[in-house]
Amino acid sequence: MDPTRQIIIALDHANRQDAQAVIDRLGDACRFYKVGLELLTAAGPEFVRHLVAQGKEVFLDLKLFEIPNSVAGAVRAAGELGVSMVTVHGMGGTGIMSAAVDAARDCPGLRVLALTVVTSMTDADLADIGVPDTAEAQVLRLARLAERAGCHGVIASPREVAPLRALLGSDAVIVTPGVTLPGASPAEHARPGTPLAAVTDGASHVVVGRSITRAPDPLSALRRVRADLSPTTTPR
Ligand code: C5P
Repeated sequence: MDPTRQIIIALDHANRQDAQAVIDRLGDACRFYKVGLELLTAAGPEFVRHLVAQGKEVFLDLKLFEIPNSVAGAVRAAGELGVSMVTVHGMGGTGIMSAAVDAARDCPGLRVLALTVVTSMTDADLADIGVPDTAEAQVLRLARLAERAGCHGVIASPREVAPLRALLGSDAVIVTPGVTLPGASPAEHARPGTPLAAVTDGASHVVVGRSITRAPDPLSALRRVRADLSPTTTPR
């Protein structure tokens, strides 16, 4: 795996200028960025087009949870922007995941990933919303549904990567946010792990946000993450 694509940097910024400053600082060291709802809403789809035009890959983290027709429309719109990953909520069930996958067929290179259980949620949070399973059991349940719906992969916390890889096989995309750098505090990640642990367990990509983008020197921080990962070689 190309190290400039294995680490996806989350551009969780309130405006285009702050995001662009990070991109400029990282230069060729990062080719893959995640754009989420904050930056998309603040800067608009034009900024996503601009990233793609600069040769960056974009993971558009829309976390879609809507009726299937609306999910399909949003996936087509994402494909037209030229992004390479888009997310749909696994908790929305087979109907919306299948609609997303069908809509993506017209967009070569667009992978539909199912968000399983966000990394800030604990078993107790799941119980609150009426899910009696542990987070890991729920992640695996949703991953099975996602696979049957034709999704290209899943999003899950570092804690679930090993059983997910065993379940989904070697081709699946497994993207892991909720990583913290060795020695750093886990912020609000309830099920954290280091990038190295996640990749060793089988993650194809790790998403890192504030520990790089808010670092005094983002490029040095990215280099530390890459150094942490350098002993690993992943076939995916
Ligand atoms: O915490 P960090 O800034 O590295 O977050 C990067 C991305 O990981 C965020 O954009 C968010 O989508 C995801 N995240 C998550 N669960 C958390 C915190 C962040 O899935 N608890």
